[in-house]
Amino acid sequence: MIVGIVGCGAIANTIVNEFISDSGIQIKYFYDTDIERAENLAQIANGVAVLRLEDMLDDVDLILESASPIALKVIALDILERGIDLMVMSVGALMDREFRNKVRKTAEEHNAKVYAPSGAIVGLDGIKAASIGKITEASLTTRKAPKSLGREVEEEEVLFEGKASEAVEKFPVNINVAASLSIACNMDIDVKIIVDPKVDRNVHEVVVKGDFGEFRTSSENYPFAANPKTSMLAAFSAIKLLKSFGECFSVGT
Ligand SMILES: NC(=O)c1ccc[n+]([C@@H]2O[C@H](COP(=O)([O-])OP(=O)(O)OC[C@H]3O[C@@H](n4cnc5c(N)ncnc54)[C@H](O)[C@@H]3O)[C@@H](O)[C@H]2O)c1
Repeated sequence: MIVGIVGCGAIANTIVNEFISDSGIQIKYFYDTDIERAENLAQIANGVAVLRLEDMLDDVDLILESASPIALKVIALDILERGIDLMVMSVGALMDREFRNKVRKTAEEHNAKVYAPSGAIVGLDGIKAASIGKITEASLTTRKAPKSLGREVEEEEVLFEGKASEAVEKFPVNINVAASLSIACNMDIDVKIIVDPKVDRNVHEVVVKGDFGEFRTSSENYPFAANPKTSMLAAFSAIKLLKSFGECFSVGT
């Protein structure tokens, strides 16, 4: 499987540095609006930096988007129309129902697949299973350091309380996890975002209640120094999903 990456920032850097090509999966092409970033990763991976996305499309089986929600909206349909699979990191863009439906329809019509790794969140497996029954309550509380949210505060402050659909509009590059949870269980979950000068990790707490009972998960993720909005676990989840394509044994949903 030949993979191309669109968006060569914090997540892509970790993927390239941690992914060991041991399963017939080659990360070969790199595209970024900042060509130096693409060239840097291409050099590390012994791959190819391209000046235009189109320059990789004839050769790739899958494109991993790790750029931005706006970038995803621009590139997704063109990629899927060519029957190329797409792995999405900027999941927040998929909260736009009209766009999500177009993505789904285009993928179906062209026999392509769309994957969204679990990212920075823990509990997606549980919420997917829970959605087979009735979910009565699903919420996410995210607590981040001021620099992760681009704020300067002396004391803890609730920045947002409302539905996931509104949260991803107000914090598009910060709250992809709310979108992943909502899409996984097909409901607009409750979200609270807290800026907290006492934490130095990105903390996500998920509570789900329903026919199955209830569960709570809590993750305290190390942010990237290069981009404190992003958690290392998000990049690891993409690597794990990539590796799974070459494996014949799978545990967990
Ligand atoms: N699913 C999750 O849990 C999760 C977690 C963290 C981050 N994310 C999302 O993943 C994406 C990447 O995160 P990151 O921390 O690596 O970001 P980053 O800012 O470190 O890197 C993004 C890179 O994309 C490039 N880029 C921007 N627009 C582009 C375009 N139109 N075409 C090509 N390249 C473009 C930038 O130049 C930059 O190099 C973001 O949208 C972020 O919100 C998702």
